[in-house]
Amino acid sequence: MKQYQFLTPLKLPNGVTLKNRIVIPPMTERLALEDGTVSLNELDYLNKRSGGVGMFISPVANVNELGKGFEGELSAADDRFIPGLAKMAAVMKQGNSKAILQIFSAGRKTTSALLRGKQPVSASAVPGRREFNEMPHALTEAEVEQTIEDFAQAVRRAILAGFDGVEIHGANTYLIQQFFSPHSNRRTDQWGGDVMQRMRFALSIIKRSHEMIEQLGAKQFILGYRLSPEETEEPGIRIDDTLRFVDVLADQPLDYLHVSMGNLWRKSLNDPDEQRFTILRIKDQLRGRLPLIGVGSLKTPADVEKAMAAGIDLAAIGREYLVEPHWIEKVQAGREADIRYEVDPNDAEELGLYPPLMDFLTSGIPFPFKNHQQENGDDVFFSK
Ligand SMILES: Cc1cc2nc3c(=O)[nH]c(=O)nc-3n(C[C@H](O)[C@H](O)[C@H](O)COP(=O)(O)O)c2cc1C
Repeated sequence: MKQYQFLTPLKLPNGVTLKNRIVIPPMTERLALEDGTVSLNELDYLNKRSGGVGMFISPVANVNELGKGFEGELSAADDRFIPGLAKMAAVMKQGNSKAILQIFSAGRKTTSALLRGKQPVSASAVPGRREFNEMPHALTEAEVEQTIEDFAQAVRRAILAGFDGVEIHGANTYLIQQFFSPHSNRRTDQWGGDVMQRMRFALSIIKRSHEMIEQLGAKQFILGYRLSPEETEEPGIRIDDTLRFVDVLADQPLDYLHVSMGNLWRKSLNDPDEQRFTILRIKDQLRGRLPLIGVGSLKTPADVEKAMAAGIDLAAIGREYLVEPHWIEKVQAGREADIRYEVDPNDAEELGLYPPLMDFLTSGIPFPFKNHQQENGDDVFFSK
């Protein structure tokens, strides 16, 4: 076995040690039951990938009913989901991997059909720029407070279910990002305004989540935050806004920062003259205050080691982990030549892959919605 840096442990700020630097990032497979309960197929999919990585982040789970963003989505919106979540945590924690539940609200990035007739919500009554986006209802101040509480309650359920942590999903243009974005947040109350005021919603969720962790005495519980560094909307989030946000996040009671990108080595989406890599600008801004997870088109051990060499603490491997559930075991066994990089539909059962995720992998059918093809390349998941 080669002496890769990514095989070494990493201690998080709360004292928990990850056994290695490989992370499975949150990947929705749309396998939950209609009400958001974890399904047997979902447990099978997770089981096939468990045991090896340092940290295993779950498919995203909504924190309330209006937070649902697609069919087959997991839910952490009610105590009745705790038994299912507990099964999930047990499967994901095998082999001392740390199991993290990702939690979110989709905000305006959903439809009234998905919400069974209810109107989507957002920071302001401004629709997204995609054809199918509807006019959202701007959350009232009381509803904003309730949503923050809904996040804290989802944290409580994750703790009771036995997860090792939660990741607050502030990326990929969902509700938390909608509050940070000047495109979707035009509010004039305490939840909107300049860049500092637009952080308030995210910071309040982190604060309440941390309070919940303390209240339950879950000292070893991991609290992570995921963000997307830029938007192409006008107005929209620019890298300077994100760097200011990162500076504030670095001083919050968090255990890591996860930067969502489709390609780890990309530069600015908006400024063609910018020569610096976005991830390294974020790393510099953090100044070692929080562990950083980098993600985006990392496939081979060499890809991951390059990220480590650049000082990125943890590397998340997404699509490649769909194709090769035993990636890290193969590296550890010195069997790198056996790592699969292409999905073979004949292996579906062995890989625990089911439609519609399998269709996305084999036929490129956009995921999680068919009409994501119209999204100008700005995929629901990839912030490019
Ligand atoms: C099928 C699929 C589902 C995804 N679901 C989520 C999700 O639930 N939450 C999230 O934050 N990102 C999600 N993502 C984005 C991934 O976490 C990751 O950022 C992205 O795939 C880029 O990494 P990769 O190039 O290694 O695949 C998803 C990506 C894919 C391919």
